[in-house]
Amino acid sequence: MYRPTTLLAVFVVIPVVVGVGVGFVSYDNDFVDPTYILSKEFNTSTAASQQTVVDWADQLAAQGPWSVMNKTVVPPSGDLHDYMSWAPYSWPNCTGVGNTTALTPEQIWVTCPYYTRDGLFNPDGRLVNDTGHFQAMSDAILYNAISWVITGSNAYSTNVANFVNTWFIDPSTAMNPNLNYAQMARGPNGQVGTHTGVLDLKGMTKITSAILILRLNNNTDWTSELDTKMTNWTTLYINWLQTNPLGHEEQASTNNHGSYFYNQLTANQILVGNITGAQNSINMYFNGIYMNQINANGEQPLEAVRTRPYHYRCYNLAAMITNARLGDYLGLHSFWNKTTTKGGTIKTALDFTMTVQPGDELASELYPNIAAVGATYSDPNGTYAAFLANADNTYPAQPYFFWDQPFSDSNLAAATPTSSGPSTPTSKTGGAQMSSRTSSMTAFLTMLSLAVALLTS
Ligand SMILES: *[C@@H]1O[C@H](CO)[C@@H](O)[C@H](O)[C@H]1NC(C)=O
Ligand SMILES: *[C@@H]1O[C@H](CO)[C@@H](O)[C@H](O)[C@H]1NC(C)=O
Ligand SMILES: *[C@@H]1O[C@H](CO)[C@@H](O)[C@H](O)[C@H]1NC(C)=O
Ligand SMILES: *[C@@H]1O[C@H](CO)[C@@H](O)[C@H](O)[C@H]1NC(C)=O
Ligand SMILES: *[C@@H]1O[C@H](CO)[C@@H](O)[C@H](O)[C@H]1NC(C)=O
Ligand SMILES: *[C@@H]1O[C@H](CO)[C@@H](O)[C@H](O)[C@H]1NC(C)=O
Ligand SMILES: *[C@@H]1O[C@H](CO)[C@@H](O)[C@H](O)[C@H]1NC(C)=O
Ligand SMILES: *[C@@H]1O[C@H](CO)[C@@H](O)[C@H](O)[C@H]1NC(C)=O
Ligand SMILES: *[C@@H]1O[C@H](CO)[C@@H](O)[C@H](O)[C@H]1NC(C)=O
Ligand SMILES: *[C@@H]1O[C@H](CO)[C@@H](O)[C@H](O)[C@H]1NC(C)=O
Repeated sequence: MYRPTTLLAVFVVIPVVVGVGVGFVSYDNDFVDPTYILSKEFNTSTAASQQTVVDWADQLAAQGPWSVMNKTVVPPSGDLHDYMSWAPYSWPNCTGVGNTTALTPEQIWVTCPYYTRDGLFNPDGRLVNDTGHFQAMSDAILYNAISWVITGSNAYSTNVANFVNTWFIDPSTAMNPNLNYAQMARGPNGQVGTHTGVLDLKGMTKITSAILILRLNNNTDWTSELDTKMTNWTTLYINWLQTNPLGHEEQASTNNHGSYFYNQLTANQILVGNITGAQNSINMYFNGIYMNQINANGEQPLEAVRTRPYHYRCYNLAAMITNARLGDYLGLHSFWNKTTTKGGTIKTALDFTMTVQPGDELASELYPNIAAVGATYSDPNGTYAAFLANADNTYPAQPYFFWDQPFSDSNLAAATPTSSGPSTPTSKTGGAQMSSRTSSMTAFLTMLSLAVALLTS
């Protein structure tokens, strides 16, 4: 006979045995203000979130380093140093090219015409994983840089230096500073990148946060040689972004693609020390495409029409918030209250999205945006904290809670799990453990969903 109590036991025991913390999720994007990290003035309510930052730094570092040389498919240029990814919804049609079984996959990629099946991911896209590797590398660099500050251990800054050196600098493993083959079209008329592929490097914003943390604190692993070489690489890449037609087309995109273009262009300009250029970029975004991105009621019309509208609303919110944070860092007049042509702001866009039912899309993609807005505009009515407490009672253990301060922990901080040791057996322990497991599963689903999102945006 089926016994619910047995099931309950499984739920309670698993987290204790494996010491589950908060499962890794790659946030859509963010710019973590190095001034806050370097202040080292962290509220004790952030203890669990600090532990998660360090856990994620360890987990990710164990997978690195990453390099464009890791792929086994050679780009059309013949140069493995060129970054490459494939257009995600693109499928071959070999009907007109004779005996298909005689064609190797490599022959199909160049011989058969490709056509788009919107929303249907061609699974062979996984054969080339520069996108996944860049994303893991940028997260590893961000969490390891912050962990250096939290723990004081140079093991973390050594990781950052190693990962930057392997991906960008070492001549035997470095990526060429271009995206000529990002989200590439295949077939006889293909073999060229598409502008949507520029999105693949949005994580340059996370990398810039990390480098600033090391650079501004004179970290000894971040040598002046590495700094100069990274600045040089980024200068060449900015030049590609600003002169290549793919960069121009992406910059002209009016939806989330344009928002993310400004995330990375601005961050890259900060990285190379072009503060005037970075300020121009943020002004260009908020006086340009931003002005048509939010309706008076907070709806984002250009995202609402997409196949996964809840995801795209969250996704563009993350990019708008990142641009606002970059504006703050650059000392510009705050853009958080900047009103669009139709009368919306970042806050109204968030408030609207909080009223939308996610359906079968992932609800938790919104949570980092809620904390960002709550911390910035303040949360006098407790609306944002209450929403998060109800949605995910481990939120004070999420890394975004660490850098979105001040923000209420809803008195949950004491109950949130950390993986540094066994869970504290308080009256809330059972609940915390179960939610920890639930949160890990949610995080796993988020990861899957974001991996797909990344490839299909
Ligand atoms: C990827 O390439 C780097 C640099 O050569 C290497 O250190 C790393 O082991 C490679 N990773 C895998 C999974 O092959
Ligand atoms: C596949 O190619 C054939 C001709 O080779 C064409 O008739 C057919 O419409 C194509 N199918 C699709 C889905 O493009
Ligand atoms: C198609 O090619 C395969 C592999 O070369 C061969 O075994 C098969 O006989 C060919 N079929 C036809 C109909 O030509
Ligand atoms: C692509 O890379 C990411 C990050 O390393 C990894 O999590 C994912 O499993 C990889 N995908 C495939 C299909 O290898
Ligand atoms: C880092 O070095 C610079 C130049 O020597 C110095 O002006 C600055 O105060 C140092 N910063 C810290 C945080 O030690
Ligand atoms: C960096 O770029 C400058 C200016 O182009 C050049 O003079 C210098 O040699 C480069 N340094 C390195 C380490 O590549
Ligand atoms: C800074 O960026 C602006 C705008 O892209 C550009 O015109 C300028 O040449 C850059 N300055 C330097 C020193 O690279
Ligand atoms: C938005 O505007 C209000 C009213 O002027 C002000 O109190 C608040 O500080 C502003 N918020 C941000 C984040 O700039
Ligand atoms: C708090 O609630 C009041 C009254 O409902 C409302 O006017 C105000 O906009 C709310 N403040 C925030 C920050 O949501
Ligand atoms: C620290 O966090 C707690 C819990 O959210 C809050 O009550 C307190 O005001 C915060 N202290 C500071 C200095 O921000």
